[in-house]
Amino acid sequence: MIASKVMQFGLVGLAVAQSRLDAIPTGFNASRWAWVSNENPLLAVIPGEFNRSAFDAPSAAKVSDSRVAAINQQINQTSFVAYDPRFFDIIGPDATVEQLQVLPFQVHEAPCFIPETSQLFFVQWGPPGGGENGGHNYQYLLDLKTNNLTTLQTDPPTWNIHGCVYSKGKLHVVTDGGPHETGYLATIDPSTWERRTILNNHDEQPFISFNDLDMDREGNYYMTDSLSGWGRYLHPYGQPTAPTVYFVNGTTLRIKPLMYLENGNTNGIAVSADGSSLYVADTGASLVRPSGRDEQGPRDLWAFDFATSKTTGQKLPLLTNKRLLTRAIQYFYDGVRVSRGGWIFGAGGEVVDVVDPESGWILGSIRMGGGQNGPVNLVFGENELWVVGKGVFGM
Ligand SMILES: *[C@@H]1O[C@H](CO)[C@@H](O)[C@H](O)[C@H]1NC(C)=O
Ligand SMILES: *[C@@H]1O[C@H](CO)[C@@H](O)[C@H](O)[C@H]1NC(C)=O
Ligand SMILES: *[C@@H]1O[C@H](CO)[C@@H](O)[C@H](O)[C@H]1NC(C)=O
Ligand SMILES: *[C@@H]1O[C@H](CO)[C@@H](O)[C@H](O)[C@H]1NC(C)=O
Ligand SMILES: *[C@@H]1O[C@H](CO)[C@@H](O)[C@H](O)[C@H]1NC(C)=O
Repeated sequence: MIASKVMQFGLVGLAVAQSRLDAIPTGFNASRWAWVSNENPLLAVIPGEFNRSAFDAPSAAKVSDSRVAAINQQINQTSFVAYDPRFFDIIGPDATVEQLQVLPFQVHEAPCFIPETSQLFFVQWGPPGGGENGGHNYQYLLDLKTNNLTTLQTDPPTWNIHGCVYSKGKLHVVTDGGPHETGYLATIDPSTWERRTILNNHDEQPFISFNDLDMDREGNYYMTDSLSGWGRYLHPYGQPTAPTVYFVNGTTLRIKPLMYLENGNTNGIAVSADGSSLYVADTGASLVRPSGRDEQGPRDLWAFDFATSKTTGQKLPLLTNKRLLTRAIQYFYDGVRVSRGGWIFGAGGEVVDVVDPESGWILGSIRMGGGQNGPVNLVFGENELWVVGKGVFGM
């Protein structure tokens, strides 16, 4: 597991970078930063042979040209890869990536930052590990001041939390379901660890297995019901619907599907900073039952706008203006979050990418050390980005 901290400092003016990997703006550390652009002729037209799987990082491509191999090796030692000059401004010259905890090689998920106590809540997810069929009925708590990691159990215990959002003093979580229950939406009080289930069905139909959620400023929920937990046998129940994005009115708990995916899978989800758009990752390239990978499968980040009422002008739980923002350069985006400034942060492969919400350009990648390190989900702190995933190496 990696819990990494990206320290973000204020904006800094920058001299626009050039087309060589060493031409990063003044003030940025060349050991930590790479500027990658097709203005570099060696990258626009790669000499000799080259190939890579969509699931690998570009710098992990097999290349026959030794100069390109050297560029890839250089990229593999950095923490930040910029594809767009704006990325330098967004991250700033003083940012570093640090590994805080090394845990058994396993997926970690559902990070929630608790500002009052400076704690990071997260979980170990799925098999191998855990109890019955890889299930987990406990969670992790990291004290961010002392880096002391402890485990906890909610009251009553909560099985297989997969997504978490902190809002107004509570953790709002969704679960995959467990050995004796289907998935649900619940709140957890971090001062008592009491859990209250608030919704466990859709018109008396069970959910498949929740993957993630986000909330808007009004306290409404956007939840992804996905094949992932069901695919890993985390509960013995069936697959009642296709992967679905649900809207839940936080006041009335009335629930409505926003989007179905007949071919593909739902995963990360995030509401835009101004609340007018929704970003949804389709990670159908990751196959379930049996688990596997489909090079041609969806690895896409979609954007939608919310429709507004013609009579009242109010935002409606209806998606319009579907557009492909981008396809992940490597792997797919598992966790997706939006920063205060509106940038989309997507975790997957060996990176957390920053995506421009308007154009869909990937502005840059935050690397977590490469190799076996795989960021899975993220949450913003005050001036840090907390990342959980799977992996062994640190930076
Ligand atoms: C640049 O980054 C490297 C690697 O993180 C570090 O060892 C070095 O001290 C940094 N140099 C400066 C001038 O900060
Ligand atoms: C290139 O990589 C793809 C994906 O891993 C693989 O399916 C294909 O066989 C490779 N092609 C060559 C010529 O090696
Ligand atoms: C870590 O936290 C646990 C639970 O609060 C406590 O029992 C333990 O003493 C702490 N360890 C350290 C090294 O502070
Ligand atoms: C949620 O329900 C409340 C109470 O009926 C209503 O006022 C509000 O407009 C609803 N929100 C949305 C986004 O539909
Ligand atoms: C990148 O660096 C990591 C960590 O040192 C290493 O394990 C991995 O093999 C490297 N990847 C490539 C493609 O060189």
